[in-house]
Amino acid sequence: MQVIDSRREGSTRRSFYIGAIYGIWAAIAASLTLPAFAYLLFPPKARREDEWVEVGDVTKLAPDTPVEMSFRRNRVDGWKITSEKSTAWVVKHSDNTVTAFGPQCTHLGCAYHWDERKTEFLCPCHNSLFAVDGRVVSGPAPRPLDRYETKIEGKKLLLGRLREGDKA
Ligand code: FES
Repeated sequence: MQVIDSRREGSTRRSFYIGAIYGIWAAIAASLTLPAFAYLLFPPKARREDEWVEVGDVTKLAPDTPVEMSFRRNRVDGWKITSEKSTAWVVKHSDNTVTAFGPQCTHLGCAYHWDERKTEFLCPCHNSLFAVDGRVVSGPAPRPLDRYETKIEGKKLLLGRLREGDKA
Protein backbone atom coordinates (compact mmCIF):
# COMPACT_ATOMS: atom_id res chain seq x y z
CA MET A 1 0.00 0.00 0.00
CA GLN A 2 2.81 2.40 0.86
CA VAL A 3 4.57 1.70 -2.47
CA ILE A 4 1.40 2.60 -4.40
CA ASP A 5 0.89 5.81 -2.36
CA SER A 6 4.50 6.95 -2.87
CA ARG A 7 4.19 6.29 -6.64
CA ARG A 8 0.95 8.29 -6.81
CA GLU A 9 2.52 11.06 -4.77
CA GLY A 10 5.59 11.07 -7.04
CA SER A 11 3.38 11.18 -10.11
CA THR A 12 1.39 14.12 -8.69
CA ARG A 13 4.54 16.01 -7.81
CA ARG A 14 5.98 15.35 -11.30
CA SER A 15 2.75 16.62 -12.86
CA PHE A 16 2.93 19.72 -10.71
CA TYR A 17 6.52 20.46 -11.76
CA ILE A 18 5.79 19.83 -15.43
CA GLY A 19 2.76 22.13 -15.20
CA ALA A 20 4.85 24.78 -13.44
CA ILE A 21 7.57 24.58 -16.11
CA TYR A 22 4.99 24.88 -18.91
CA GLY A 23 3.41 27.80 -17.08
CA ILE A 24 6.75 29.60 -16.75
CA TRP A 25 7.51 28.99 -20.44
CA ALA A 26 4.06 30.30 -21.38
CA ALA A 27 4.62 33.44 -19.27
CA ILE A 28 8.05 34.02 -20.89
CA ALA A 29 6.62 33.50 -24.39
CA ALA A 30 3.72 35.88 -23.68
CA SER A 31 6.02 38.58 -22.29
CA LEU A 32 8.13 38.38 -25.44
CA THR A 33 5.37 38.15 -28.05
CA LEU A 34 2.69 40.49 -26.65
CA PRO A 35 4.81 43.66 -27.07
CA ALA A 36 5.59 42.59 -30.65
CA PHE A 37 1.89 42.09 -31.40
CA ALA A 38 1.06 45.41 -29.74
CA TYR A 39 3.69 47.10 -31.92
CA LEU A 40 2.30 45.48 -35.08
CA LEU A 41 -1.37 46.06 -34.27
CA PHE A 42 -1.02 49.58 -32.86
CA PRO A 43 1.81 51.24 -34.80
CA PRO A 44 3.27 54.37 -33.25
CA LYS A 45 1.90 57.69 -34.39
CA ALA A 46 3.51 59.01 -37.52
CA ARG A 47 5.90 61.92 -37.22
CA ARG A 48 3.78 64.81 -36.10
CA GLU A 49 4.39 68.44 -35.46
CA ASP A 50 0.97 69.93 -35.96
CA GLU A 51 0.52 71.43 -32.53
CA TRP A 52 0.17 75.15 -32.16
CA VAL A 53 3.12 76.80 -30.43
CA GLU A 54 3.05 80.13 -28.64
CA VAL A 55 5.84 82.40 -29.87
CA GLY A 56 5.19 85.74 -28.23
CA ASP A 57 3.13 88.86 -27.64
CA VAL A 58 1.75 90.20 -30.90
CA THR A 59 1.04 93.66 -29.47
CA LYS A 60 4.77 94.32 -29.11
CA LEU A 61 5.35 94.08 -32.87
CA ALA A 62 5.61 97.26 -34.95
CA PRO A 63 3.65 97.21 -38.21
CA ASP A 64 5.52 96.09 -41.34
CA THR A 65 8.76 95.55 -39.42
CA PRO A 66 9.87 91.91 -39.54
CA VAL A 67 11.10 90.44 -36.26
CA GLU A 68 12.82 87.10 -35.85
CA MET A 69 11.13 85.17 -33.04
CA SER A 70 12.38 81.93 -31.60
CA PHE A 71 10.36 79.16 -30.03
CA ARG A 72 10.57 75.51 -29.04
CA ARG A 73 8.42 72.82 -30.56
CA ASN A 74 7.96 69.20 -29.56
CA ARG A 75 8.36 66.72 -32.36
CA VAL A 76 6.71 63.32 -31.95
CA ASP A 77 8.40 60.50 -33.84
CA GLY A 78 6.91 57.19 -32.82
CA TRP A 79 7.32 57.05 -29.07
CA LYS A 80 10.19 59.49 -29.10
CA ILE A 81 9.45 63.13 -28.28
CA THR A 82 12.14 65.69 -28.91
CA SER A 83 12.11 69.42 -28.30
CA GLU A 84 13.53 71.47 -31.16
CA LYS A 85 14.38 75.14 -31.24
CA SER A 86 13.16 77.00 -34.29
CA THR A 87 12.64 80.55 -35.49
CA ALA A 88 10.21 82.48 -37.64
CA TRP A 89 10.33 85.90 -39.26
CA VAL A 90 7.11 87.53 -38.13
CA VAL A 91 5.53 90.51 -39.87
CA LYS A 92 2.58 92.34 -38.36
CA HIS A 93 0.53 94.19 -40.95
CA SER A 94 -1.32 97.48 -40.55
CA ASP A 95 -4.67 95.61 -40.39
CA ASN A 96 -3.29 93.66 -37.36
CA THR A 97 -2.98 90.40 -39.30
CA VAL A 98 0.31 88.56 -38.97
CA THR A 99 2.46 86.58 -41.38
CA ALA A 100 5.20 84.26 -40.12
CA PHE A 101 7.83 83.00 -42.53
CA GLY A 102 9.95 79.88 -42.15
CA PRO A 103 13.60 80.68 -41.34
CA GLN A 104 15.17 79.07 -44.40
CA CYS A 105 15.66 80.40 -47.90
CA THR A 106 13.66 78.47 -50.49
CA HIS A 107 16.71 78.07 -52.73
CA LEU A 108 19.04 75.80 -50.76
CA GLY A 109 17.94 76.40 -47.21
CA CYS A 110 20.34 79.06 -45.94
CA ALA A 111 19.27 81.34 -43.13
CA TYR A 112 18.25 84.74 -44.47
CA HIS A 113 17.79 88.02 -42.59
CA TRP A 114 15.90 91.28 -42.84
CA ASP A 115 17.97 93.99 -44.53
CA GLU A 116 16.90 97.31 -42.99
CA ARG A 117 18.54 99.35 -45.74
CA LYS A 118 16.92 97.48 -48.64
CA THR A 119 13.73 96.75 -46.66
CA GLU A 120 13.83 93.23 -48.06
CA PHE A 121 14.79 89.79 -46.83
CA LEU A 122 18.29 88.95 -48.05
CA CYS A 123 19.80 85.50 -48.30
CA PRO A 124 23.60 85.87 -48.18
CA CYS A 125 24.35 82.49 -49.79
CA HIS A 126 23.36 83.33 -53.38
CA ASN A 127 21.81 86.78 -52.93
CA SER A 128 18.13 85.95 -53.22
CA LEU A 129 15.94 88.85 -52.21
CA PHE A 130 12.40 88.50 -50.87
CA ALA A 131 9.85 91.26 -50.37
CA VAL A 132 8.22 91.84 -46.98
CA ASP A 133 5.28 89.69 -48.17
CA GLY A 134 7.67 86.80 -48.91
CA ARG A 135 7.59 87.02 -52.71
CA VAL A 136 10.85 86.55 -54.65
CA VAL A 137 12.28 89.87 -55.83
CA SER A 138 15.49 88.54 -57.37
CA GLY A 139 17.98 85.69 -57.20
CA PRO A 140 17.80 81.95 -57.72
CA ALA A 141 15.09 81.23 -55.11
CA PRO A 142 12.41 79.21 -56.95
CA ARG A 143 9.41 80.17 -54.82
CA PRO A 144 8.29 82.62 -52.12
CA LEU A 145 9.22 82.10 -48.49
CA ASP A 146 7.47 79.28 -46.68
CA ARG A 147 4.80 80.38 -44.20
CA TYR A 148 3.64 79.11 -40.85
CA GLU A 149 -0.06 78.85 -40.16
CA THR A 150 -0.82 81.63 -37.69
CA LYS A 151 -3.46 82.17 -35.04
CA ILE A 152 -3.88 85.01 -32.55
CA GLU A 153 -5.44 84.32 -29.16
CA GLY A 154 -5.75 87.52 -27.16
CA LYS A 155 -2.23 88.96 -27.31
CA LYS A 156 -0.55 85.64 -28.04
CA LEU A 157 0.74 84.67 -31.45
CA LEU A 158 0.55 80.95 -32.14
CA LEU A 159 2.26 79.17 -35.01
CA GLY A 160 1.08 75.96 -36.63
CA ARG A 161 2.50 73.97 -39.51
CA LEU A 162 4.99 75.33 -41.99
CA ARG A 163 3.48 75.49 -45.49
CA GLU A 164 5.49 75.68 -48.66
CA GLY A 165 5.33 79.07 -50.41
CA ASP A 166 3.32 78.98 -53.64
CA LYS A 167 5.24 79.39 -56.87
CA ALA A 168 4.39 82.61 -58.67
S1 FES B 1 20.31 79.46 -50.39
FE1 FES B 1 19.44 81.41 -50.42
S2 FES B 1 19.93 82.12 -52.36
FE2 FES B 1 20.77 80.17 -52.35
